[in-house]
Amino acid sequence: MPDSTHLSNKGISASKSPMRIDLEIYYEAMENLYHSETNPDGALPMNVAENHLCWDMLRNRIEKVTRENTIPDWVASYTDPAGAPSFREATGEFFSKFLMHVPVNPDSLAFSGGATSTIEMTSFLLANPGDTAVIPAPSYPVYTGDIGTLPEVKRFDLQVPSMPLSSEYQFDLQLLQDAKEKIEANGSAFRMLILTQPDNPTGRIYSEDFLRKIADWCIEHQIHLIVNEIYGLSQLDIKNPSLNKYYPEVSPFISFGKIMAEYQSPFLHFWYSFSKDFGISGFRIGVLHSHNEDLIHAYRNAGLGHSISNYTQWVIQEVLLDHDFLKAFFKSFQQKLTESYLIVSQTLQNLNIPFNPSRGSLFVWMDLSEFLDEESLKGEEKLWLEIYEKTGILITPTNGFGHTEKGWYRIVITSLNHEELKVAMKRLSDFIQIKRKG
Ligand SMILES: Cc1ncc(COP(=O)(O)O)c(C=O)c1O
Repeated sequence: MPDSTHLSNKGISASKSPMRIDLEIYYEAMENLYHSETNPDGALPMNVAENHLCWDMLRNRIEKVTRENTIPDWVASYTDPAGAPSFREATGEFFSKFLMHVPVNPDSLAFSGGATSTIEMTSFLLANPGDTAVIPAPSYPVYTGDIGTLPEVKRFDLQVPSMPLSSEYQFDLQLLQDAKEKIEANGSAFRMLILTQPDNPTGRIYSEDFLRKIADWCIEHQIHLIVNEIYGLSQLDIKNPSLNKYYPEVSPFISFGKIMAEYQSPFLHFWYSFSKDFGISGFRIGVLHSHNEDLIHAYRNAGLGHSISNYTQWVIQEVLLDHDFLKAFFKSFQQKLTESYLIVSQTLQNLNIPFNPSRGSLFVWMDLSEFLDEESLKGEEKLWLEIYEKTGILITPTNGFGHTEKGWYRIVITSLNHEELKVAMKRLSDFIQIKRKG
């Protein structure tokens, strides 16, 4: 068919592929936001992975930086496209002290605009067009576009049994071997394995022992293993007296950075972003950490178009150097996140709605399959819209998570404050009780 857009083939395809299907309805909800006094029937968007719990605290600290300092000269000029040296150093120290608990060499870090850009750049540099990245399902829907649109890497959703519900991932490595054979039989190469911990959407983590087993398997098969710890400091306080009974025997959270420091393998990599733990998705800061020097050089050489504004790097570097502030910030965030999780999980427990016990992330992954009219994407979309229309609660649509079981939905628990979250849970309870009465 003749095309009148005058775009390239990729341009035409992009013009017809919305980044996510809920954006229009999300903008509608944002125009009609709930307010206890001025708009008590308003919408409660809980679909986008935003963390608004500690912005006031961070804003004050950022304003202190801009109020009390003169902007250094380097900010106005070009710098290293992989990140200004002083910003890489501050981030290395932050990783070392707060997440990985091993020394982190600033030269093993390369930055770009958000995890989105970091994922895209890394995929472009590690895999050839047509290669495949394997991702345990369910997982972050936008990985498909990040690895696919420009790098042209295919997504293979590894179907990991969801039962029994668990806060830790465990699966037979034979699944990876089977995936490899299937991918190769289709003429592609299993090039990357992407894990996320804590996971989006399930909140699961990987035990240190299991991470090591997966790393050994990947190195043996010369497959790049990348662990995305974008939610690395969004961990629940599972020692909280209201939560600890649900986590009787659990593994400690171990950052993959610690394992990488020991292995020093060119096949092991790590992603992070300041969007979630810090709640500053608008600042657009993502980072690759790797001991593969060639990869970091390639990132630097190809990355100018993806680099972050020096002003952003400077401001955040000043915050990162203040470890006392970071300690207080993450303590407060963990308390608030745990409270948000309790508000949602206790509501679901009272309603007898199954959900995956989480160790962290900004989500609860819940099973609403009992309310599906039909076990299909269409049935899921109908229920998703019905919840929005009847309650004003916008949860994440099910498209693109890549798993085969129907009726599981992700709810973002950090986009609303605790009072708003309680209103949302009351509306959800009323909806479910009416639904069950039939
Ligand atoms: C697993 C995962 N990776 C990457 C991203 C994108 O992050 P950024 O805003 O830093 O691009 C998200 C955002 O939801 C995510 O959940």
